[in-house]
Amino acid sequence: MKRLFVPCLFMLATSAILLVSACKLYYTPPAKTEYSINASAAMEAEGKRLAMLMCAPCHYDSKTKQFSGKRMEDVPGFVGKIYSRNITQHPTKGIANYTDGELAFLIRTGISRDGKLMPFMQRPNLADQDLRAIIAFLHSKDDLVRPLDADPGRTQYTMLGKMGMSQSKPLAYPAKEIAKPSDKTELGKYLVDNLSCYDCHSKSFMSINKMFPEKSKGFMGGGNKLLDINGKTVLSRNLTFHETGIGSWSEQDLRRALTEGISKDNVVLAFPMPMFSDLKDEEVSAIYAYLKSIPAINNKVKRSR
Ligand code: HEC
Ligand code: HEC
Repeated sequence: MKRLFVPCLFMLATSAILLVSACKLYYTPPAKTEYSINASAAMEAEGKRLAMLMCAPCHYDSKTKQFSGKRMEDVPGFVGKIYSRNITQHPTKGIANYTDGELAFLIRTGISRDGKLMPFMQRPNLADQDLRAIIAFLHSKDDLVRPLDADPGRTQYTMLGKMGMSQSKPLAYPAKEIAKPSDKTELGKYLVDNLSCYDCHSKSFMSINKMFPEKSKGFMGGGNKLLDINGKTVLSRNLTFHETGIGSWSEQDLRRALTEGISKDNVVLAFPMPMFSDLKDEEVSAIYAYLKSIPAINNKVKRSR
């Protein structure tokens, strides 16, 4: 989460002319409210798996055991108090009023049905097949999204946070359908993009490229400063195939880190590294193949603890 604010604060510090009036957080609400989804049980099940991988890190509350939202603990206090939303189907506290098209619009562009900029969800390269499955799941009868009368709290930015946030921009709604890659390495690239690995594991949140992740500075070379659950700095790790990265890791080592949260050197990986328990073997395999294919970066990252 911190990733979203740091670039903005940097710009703030370097630009005295950034006036409060420039804090644009509202845009024209979705023009597109249609998105055709022909839901089936198989689609909803796949959508649930994808939502566990892509939405749960921010929306799943372990107390309610539902997608009822929570405080984003890794956002520094000077930015404000940020809460994700209750995305169960509750009519007022949840998202029962969202149409399929409005959800698609939010996830593509980062603009909510009220026109508020929420760049946390932006997934410009997500395949329509996966986007449809996630939306079918959100509108399903699954327990995770059963209507729950709960409000995690409302996001309140400080002035600094608001100025920072307004530096994120909405993305354009794609002109064409996006296909899911079938080639192994391409699938790995797709997952590293859509599971946001590159976001945390590149050099800095200040130099992330959402449309073209590989253009992010220090792509997958680690060293990005994040906050752990106690508000202490934790550095992301170098995931390239260099001796300072995961050059000596086997596919099995990567699988254990991703699905069990334990590193090759038997360290229990700290928050905010998500646990990706729902990854399939062939997906881990694809990520491994892709990481092997990208340029190796010489960057020794100190283990923060
Ligand atoms: C990095 C954290 C993060 C991830 C990942 C994330 N969200 Fe969110 N989401 C948020 C936050 C924070 C808000 C509330 C923003 C605000 O209050 O301005 C939010 C709000 C929402 C809303 C409510 C919009 C509204 O109008 O109130 C929906 C719907 C939503 N998210 C869906 C999703 C879905 C579906 C996924 C997975 C594909 C997802 N989110 C992944 C952080 C996240
Ligand atoms: C929200 C930020 C975040 C996201 C998203 C994220 N990671 Fe991490 N990851 C971290 C942090 C922080 C650490 C270091 C944890 C520690 O040192 O205990 C880490 C550690 C790791 C490690 C351990 C490496 C080592 O040398 O011990 C692996 C492997 C890893 N991540 C892979 C991934 C992959 C693959 C993805 C995407 C599927 C991903 N991560 C997504 C933050 C993240």
